[in-house]
Amino acid sequence: MQDQTTAAALVQVLEWYRAMGVTDLVDAEPTNWLESANRVPGQAFLPAASPAPRNGAPASREVRPAQPAPPAAPRAAPARPTPSAAPPRQFVGTAPDAAVASARSEAARAKSLAELQAILARFDGCSLKATAKSLVFYRGAERARLMFIGEAPGRDEDQEGKPFVGRAGQLLDKMLAAAGLSDAEVHITNIVYWRPPGNRTPTPQEAQVCRPFLERQVELVAPDVIVPLGGAAAKHLLDVADGIMKLRGRLMPIAVGRHQAKAMATLHPAYLLRTPAAKRQAWRDLLAIRALLDGASKP
Ligand code: URA
Repeated sequence: MQDQTTAAALVQVLEWYRAMGVTDLVDAEPTNWLESANRVPGQAFLPAASPAPRNGAPASREVRPAQPAPPAAPRAAPARPTPSAAPPRQFVGTAPDAAVASARSEAARAKSLAELQAILARFDGCSLKATAKSLVFYRGAERARLMFIGEAPGRDEDQEGKPFVGRAGQLLDKMLAAAGLSDAEVHITNIVYWRPPGNRTPTPQEAQVCRPFLERQVELVAPDVIVPLGGAAAKHLLDVADGIMKLRGRLMPIAVGRHQAKAMATLHPAYLLRTPAAKRQAWRDLLAIRALLDGASKP
């Protein structure tokens, strides 16, 4: 009977994970998060622990250490063993301002994309890192006149550690090839470097924490034209409230970090997969971008 109850409870937990968008394990081996207890991503950026209140009451965000179980009453069910030395887990968030400031000073030190990647790999200020398998940095050329910036890595990108390698990326590649552009001529990245759980849109806070790295990346790549792919990237990069249908195909100046370029947002290839009729508009944008590059390269 107890086994059935446990099995039913486990099924419910799995159902809940599925509803929350969990599609797969992030590691081959399960991770016991309780063991890493307080070491949540971004913890390094939290203000120092405040002193214990004078009345000895726990601070509001603290979780009390587990109290030893009272002695079991005769014939009561045996108490479950509590995890041994694991310290109590604290559900703390990152301190975004401190994380952004840290990201800014870290990113500024990078003199090359390889250095920037190494710094990003050590950076713990973006909470997306906790659930992602890989850091997804960029693919394509190190320096390129054309830079595509998407929303966030998905499942395939997380597996491979490269942006736009899934179905949307394959469509992007086909469109680039049709416009006469190869991987060697473009630089492709995202506004965040880790896969959001369940492929949700990154929060503004997550994008803000990654922003100093993206700015340094753009400075190092030094593109003439930046193409935000889809609404989330366009909103974040162009700092406008308009939807992608209004923004797409419009040429505008853009400053990312200390780099100035031209921007033309277009539709996200994942949207094109769902809405094939919109491919015409994206194709028109891509031809305009191609003409812009050709025109800009004339003396
Ligand atoms: N969608 C994105 O926005 N980025 C990727 O890397 C893949 C899919």
